[in-house]
Amino acid sequence: MTEVLVVAGPAAAGEYVADILARAIQTDPETVLGLATGSTPLPIYAALAERVRTEGIDVSSVSGFALDEYVGIDPAHEQSYHHVIDAEVTQTLGLNPERVHVPSGNPDTLESAGAAYEEAIRAAGGVGWQILGIGANGHIGFNEPGSPIDSLTRQVPLTEQTRQDNARFFDSIDDVPRHAITQGVGTILRAGHLFLLAFGEHKADAVARAINGPVSPEIPASAIQQHPNVTVLLDAAAASGLDAAEYTVVTGTPAGV
Ligand code: GLP
Repeated sequence: MTEVLVVAGPAAAGEYVADILARAIQTDPETVLGLATGSTPLPIYAALAERVRTEGIDVSSVSGFALDEYVGIDPAHEQSYHHVIDAEVTQTLGLNPERVHVPSGNPDTLESAGAAYEEAIRAAGGVGWQILGIGANGHIGFNEPGSPIDSLTRQVPLTEQTRQDNARFFDSIDDVPRHAITQGVGTILRAGHLFLLAFGEHKADAVARAINGPVSPEIPASAIQQHPNVTVLLDAAAASGLDAAEYTVVTGTPAGV
């Protein structure tokens, strides 16, 4: 079932998801988190870090698997997802770096990197809770339009729109890599529970098509309709392409649920 919630904004969405994840970790110290990059999930990591600190939650056995990485980027580059995940998640939450995985964008090992990543996820027992943003063109991870619903971790070309959307993180558009390695849509669908977050008017069309459009590789996020446990968290602007009857307005966190 896809539950669609409209919250006050990014901070409220972060609190909402962090609340659920904090309780999941307290129940199962070996919780496996599916980690997304981009600006959207940052409030989750900040809110969860706050809970870890104030409630003294033991995260030493928690694992994390990032969705994707640019191909050919130095892992030490500020915009590599290795760096971003380390700074925003591993350090912020105090996770064991050995338990936090990011697909390798090393061009020399790309052929085997996808299968190796799938195997690492499997060996960890699968992702329990997957955090997702959405691209303006409906991509999840770096699964651009045309990505098969059953795709697994692999190298993909980035569209011009995605390169332009992400150019703000680089000195110039020419510095934005042209390829990425990403968990497939099929990989993402194997997670136990999906959280898809989107904020702002520029995501409204992609959100509406993901929730109401036909399930199609043209809108990779539409695959969430095939997953039994999905929570979509939106602000009012990102929900503006939906009918009010399709969502629930939430003012608090799910404490006690
Ligand atoms: C990148 C990431 C996606 C992310 C998207 C949206 O393309 N690969 O996982 O969902 O950006 O980014 P933002 O959350 O900054 O809008």
